[in-house]
Amino acid sequence: MRIDIITVLPELLASPFEASILKRAIEKGLVEVHTHNLRDFSTNNYKQIDDYQFGGGAGMVMMIEPIDKCISKLKLEREYDEIIYMTPDGATLSQGIANELSLKGNIIILCGHYKGVDQRVRDHFITREISIGDFVLSGGELAAAVLCDAVIRLLPGVLGNETSALTDSFQDDLLAPPIYTRPADYKGWKVPDILLSGNTAKIEEWRENEAQKHTEKRRPDLLE
Ligand code: ADE
Repeated sequence: MRIDIITVLPELLASPFEASILKRAIEKGLVEVHTHNLRDFSTNNYKQIDDYQFGGGAGMVMMIEPIDKCISKLKLEREYDEIIYMTPDGATLSQGIANELSLKGNIIILCGHYKGVDQRVRDHFITREISIGDFVLSGGELAAAVLCDAVIRLLPGVLGNETSALTDSFQDDLLAPPIYTRPADYKGWKVPDILLSGNTAKIEEWRENEAQKHTEKRRPDLLE
């Protein structure tokens, strides 16, 4: 998979890919992540990429031309399956969307800033708009990093068996059951006996039951 991220703040998108699972996925060649500074595609000497709103109103708008130039250059180099715009009024990111995107080959992610992008960018280039929740960030970069993390960890070979994504919360519309590690007794707080029993069938049954109970309590909407 290849992910191209278009941003005015490439420095915000460095560290998420320089540690742990995402770093290893890149090193193993399972994903390529490239950031593109939108200012490099500005058409004037001031590297301007935003301008005042037509019709008046507070806040600047990202101009279509630099975005068009950047996307067009990328599209000349390869085909893209999705061009995603990170925006608080997009579809809320879910495990289902992450699963779907993890099956794609090449995607572009455009990070919004200021008031957002000229509507014509959304109308003519964007194939999908994604929000990471009902709150407003100062830009789309952190949201893009969240999306990339959710997608990349699902790529075959990124997680080992011991961290398999198949047992994550949401993967089967249930929250994950409680988990424990050593010591089995800490200050009298004991791990449930069943987990120490060695009876794998019973343990699996217990986990399914706990996942169900936990979901009913915290997220009954997932069971509807
Ligand atoms: N840009 C600003 N806020 C955002 C959000 N909640 N999700 C995605 N992109 C954003």
